[in-house]
Amino acid sequence: MPSMITNAFLFILVFIGASLYGPIKRSGIFRGITKINVEGSKTIPLVQCEDLHVHNGLVYTACQHSDRAQDRTKWFPPMGIFDVPVESKNEKRGDLYVIDPQTTLYQKLKVSNFDVIDFHTHGIGLYPDAENLFIFAVNHLPNPDHIKDPQSPAARSQIEIFKVSLPVDGSLPTTATHVKSVLHPAIRTPNDILPTGPSSFYVTNDHFYRDGFMRVLEDVSGPNYGRWSDSVHVDASGTKTVAHQVVSGLHNNNGIMRGMDNEVIIMSAAGGTMYRLKDDPVSKNLTLIKDVSLDSSLDNPFYFSEGSEEQNAYYLAGYPKILSLLNGHKDLNVPIDSIVWRLKKRNDGTFTKEIVFMDDGTSQSSASSAVVVPLKSDPNRGLLLVSGPWSHHITVTEINL
Ligand SMILES: *[C@@H]1O[C@H](CO)[C@@H](O)[C@H](O)[C@H]1NC(C)=O
Repeated sequence: MPSMITNAFLFILVFIGASLYGPIKRSGIFRGITKINVEGSKTIPLVQCEDLHVHNGLVYTACQHSDRAQDRTKWFPPMGIFDVPVESKNEKRGDLYVIDPQTTLYQKLKVSNFDVIDFHTHGIGLYPDAENLFIFAVNHLPNPDHIKDPQSPAARSQIEIFKVSLPVDGSLPTTATHVKSVLHPAIRTPNDILPTGPSSFYVTNDHFYRDGFMRVLEDVSGPNYGRWSDSVHVDASGTKTVAHQVVSGLHNNNGIMRGMDNEVIIMSAAGGTMYRLKDDPVSKNLTLIKDVSLDSSLDNPFYFSEGSEEQNAYYLAGYPKILSLLNGHKDLNVPIDSIVWRLKKRNDGTFTKEIVFMDDGTSQSSASSAVVVPLKSDPNRGLLLVSGPWSHHITVTEINL
């Protein structure tokens, strides 16, 4: 009997140890932070831009106003921050920007027809057609019903669709028109968007639980447990918006993007996993093909496809130490560590995993997005742009491709 009890006890210990090993390693408690590719970098003074996307060599993003930067520490539903009630001074907190990475010159897009009360920015997605570029942006609006009914969710997040007219001479666009706001009960905790047409898109819901203990459990138990969030496809082209779930059973659906061979990538943020999925072009449903796990929390994916076969790679931004994110997400003076991984596909189908950017947050505070464009003057070099939801600027640094 005693040995059976001892065995059972040992089994439980091993089980707990094995279950905690992944989360503890990913949390980065034992990771040393060094500065990688920070020296000599430039900065672009745009704050708290959560997501970056490239189209025709230009980088598009949605950022908060620098004079409203404190608001992020009081209202940011994706991190469970709901401290500020609805307050609008008829002046939106966020804007869309376009950047020329070669010169670091940037332009705020003047948006017409945008009469939504506020704009709390997060993930974006781009859809180009023959003449225009459509920008889809998550907007974490406070829920007006929450004041009357505190049981209702604090946020009523929606998706904004904008149309940018691209200058024919290739200069930076200056204006955008707001096309529509898209609301649907299936869009619950939107994080990031992958457009599939001028008014249709995939959107990830990063959490099933909006707040409280279960949300914490949802984060820490992944990626093997707590797989409760989902992603949906939304068609807002008709008079009635239709949406359906396209994948479930993934953990913490976060950044979404097209990757190599047209695959769809969804990141499990707290679970440090890159899911590789195949989309059905008719039903839009997504099927998991493979996943790749990394030893840190991750956020938005980017696939660099403008180089040679050896240069093309995934760039994944994230948080090398989860405690620094928790310490800094409500205080802009506390630096948040940042990391960017590069994954190159080997011949056997596995991926190399290399850290191409790391900082203790004193320069680049938080990293949720990293994109690469080729450096015009050198085919072996690229410009890496890094940004995060608590960052004081966008970092631009040269790297070997
Ligand atoms: C797509 O997924 C939905 C569930 O969200 C399911 O009802 C439907 O049958 C699926 N369609 C196909 C073609 O697999």
